[in-house]
Amino acid sequence: MQLFIEKDYSAMSKKAAQIFAEKIRQKSDLVLGLATGSTPIGTYKELIRMNREENLDFSKVVTFNLDEYYGLTPDNPQSYNYFMFENLFNHVNIQKENVHIPDGRASDIENYCKEYDNQIEKYGGIDLQLLGIGVNGHIGFNEPAEELIVGTHLTDLTEDTIKANSRFFDSADQVPTKAITMGIGSIMKAKKIMLLASGKGKAEIMAKLLNNNLVTTTNPASLLMLHQDVTIIMDEEAASQLKNL
Ligand code: PGA
Repeated sequence: MQLFIEKDYSAMSKKAAQIFAEKIRQKSDLVLGLATGSTPIGTYKELIRMNREENLDFSKVVTFNLDEYYGLTPDNPQSYNYFMFENLFNHVNIQKENVHIPDGRASDIENYCKEYDNQIEKYGGIDLQLLGIGVNGHIGFNEPAEELIVGTHLTDLTEDTIKANSRFFDSADQVPTKAITMGIGSIMKAKKIMLLASGKGKAEIMAKLLNNNLVTTTNPASLLMLHQDVTIIMDEEAASQLKNL
């Protein structure tokens, strides 16, 4: 595992974007796994700048997003589809046909989810998977539980997550209660994983992840410790409870 502790959110975002850019420059048809939420917005802004000012070329890049609220249409401003176009895809030269985001309207959900994982395989797997982390340790919407599901699936959101995500909605009862998410196995198959964490709110979960040398499904992010190529980039606030630095 590689760990970078950067001064603040902006430095964290620049570091993450640099690694993305390096990978895209090495392999123009890179397959990216992408995430939503507050954490990656700065990284996406920096990638947009690099696309405009430094010729970072997205024309062959392929993307798969981690998750989507179930029941929301792609044009709903709260949907992750909308988020991705607003915060990245509308501003870089990516081909729309190379963008994959779980469809919140999917009906035959079991087959739909299998097909999502098959698509990833067809492109040769994810080269670089970006992740945020929930205050409860979730990655994607793989919520703490006794058992975790390997493949992409429909899941119930926990109270913690509904509460945390209610900041993007008018009230908590408007937050969808289900989501389609890549499974823990879909994530772990990525060749490289980059997890970002920023702010005091993430200090406790990052300490739990990095201070204790253990793996548990009640902290899904801890499973990343079993992956051979994980880079964690965090800011000083998120790192403030780490021991033995
Ligand atoms: P955040 O969400 O980036 O908005 O903090 C992260 C997550 O819940 O995975």
